[in-house]
Amino acid sequence: MEKIIIEKSRPGRRGYTLPKLDVGISDIQNSIPESYLRKEAANLPEIAELEVARHFGRLSHLNYNIEQGLYPLGSCTMKYNPKINETVASMSGFADLHPNSTDEMSQGALEVMYKLGEVLKEISGMQGVSLQPAAGSQGELTGILMFRAYHKHRNDTKRTKILIPNAAHGTNPASAAIAGFEIVEIDSNAEGMVDIEDLRSKIGDDVAGFMLTNPNTVGIFEKEIETIAELIRGCGGLMYMDGANLNALLGIARPGDMGFDCVHINLHKTFSTPHGGGGPGSGPVCVSERLIPYLPIPQISKDNDKYKLDFGKEHSIGRVHTFFGNFGMFIRAYTYISMHGNEALRQISENAIINSNYLRALIKHNYKIPYTEFGMHEFVISADYQKELGVSAKDIAKRLLDYGFHAPTIYFPLIVHECMLIEPTETETKENIEQFADVMNKIAQEAREKPELVTSAPLNTPIRRVDDALAARKLNVRW
Ligand SMILES: Cc1ncc(COP(=O)(O)O)c(C=O)c1O
Repeated sequence: MEKIIIEKSRPGRRGYTLPKLDVGISDIQNSIPESYLRKEAANLPEIAELEVARHFGRLSHLNYNIEQGLYPLGSCTMKYNPKINETVASMSGFADLHPNSTDEMSQGALEVMYKLGEVLKEISGMQGVSLQPAAGSQGELTGILMFRAYHKHRNDTKRTKILIPNAAHGTNPASAAIAGFEIVEIDSNAEGMVDIEDLRSKIGDDVAGFMLTNPNTVGIFEKEIETIAELIRGCGGLMYMDGANLNALLGIARPGDMGFDCVHINLHKTFSTPHGGGGPGSGPVCVSERLIPYLPIPQISKDNDKYKLDFGKEHSIGRVHTFFGNFGMFIRAYTYISMHGNEALRQISENAIINSNYLRALIKHNYKIPYTEFGMHEFVISADYQKELGVSAKDIAKRLLDYGFHAPTIYFPLIVHECMLIEPTETETKENIEQFADVMNKIAQEAREKPELVTSAPLNTPIRRVDDALAARKLNVRW
């Protein structure tokens, strides 16, 4: 097993040379308050430069990434990030620009942000935008805070509830709760869509809004979206769209046209900015006319070909991020969108839908398919058949690692028993999809013939199966 860097340490080895100290050590000690001075030397690894380079080089190879193979993590849209994104984002005019630079000195950066905002408005069919939120979940919070500000501004203080389908991502109820609302769960029907009768029974003048993911978390387009919008509008509520699945809709359908008042767009999913391992993300929100007054400040405005940061919004919910958001992600997303152009953006979604449905067709004989409705860019299967043989969705996910694939999302959404949510994305070739399908089918066969092989997986990874419940409950990250 790979040793950690402290274990590789040998006394006296060095990976650096520093210039000779030209001040006395006592001068330094005198200028630092006693309480900050360390009494004993820090236990840092002593290691040569090449060893450091090799150590981190080797670790990076242990880390699975999209350039290694298919990454079918449902709801995460792990698509390829074109290299040109990185080239443009690292141009010194962007990368070295200080966030405190004046508007005059930042015209290029402001222009990119302005133009990205305009194009996101067009894609979403909305009238206003803020690029600030640093993730989809922060976009949700920003949107729901705007809902709150909207109702408050109208002195409509009885609206205390946000309705959310039981298939939603956990961040939806979390965001609404942080914004101060009570969460009311809406059932899903047998087809995996919003149960309209349940929704109808929970409508009232205490509803502030409804949060919906479309296509939803089982990868199906909500066919009753017009009825849903009518019901919510009819009771004075607002419509929030979780845009995590926008990769299925580019150039095909727009949240604004479906009656939503706010949508967050995960730039790191739909528009290919790199993600995984926790960031960096970017979750701009686009809003309908009625929410424009409440957008975060600063807004970016354009006047006679000059761009500026506009702080003068009386009803704004304020800032949700320091400075302007994750600027590097804006550059990458804008590069990706401009490189594709209108026609090819639509093809992205069409190909994502084709790839997903093709993959489902290739494995449907071996796995339970809970919803047979035509799927969008991702689909769920259930490991219920395998469970009867003692093999769970988690076991199948672990076995996939042995075959060199990243596992799909498992046990989400919660409404599907032994759920696996699979999203191949448009950037995979037909051959890659077929190879992944072959492995999924092979694992189903193993579950039938040698279940212990699957339940003891992974067998080929540097670390075998860990006790994840123990790790979560008694986390110990110290060496
Ligand atoms: C359906 C859905 N909604 C919201 C989110 C939250 O997005 P983020 O991870 O950018 O905060 C996710 C994230 O995976 C998601 O899958």
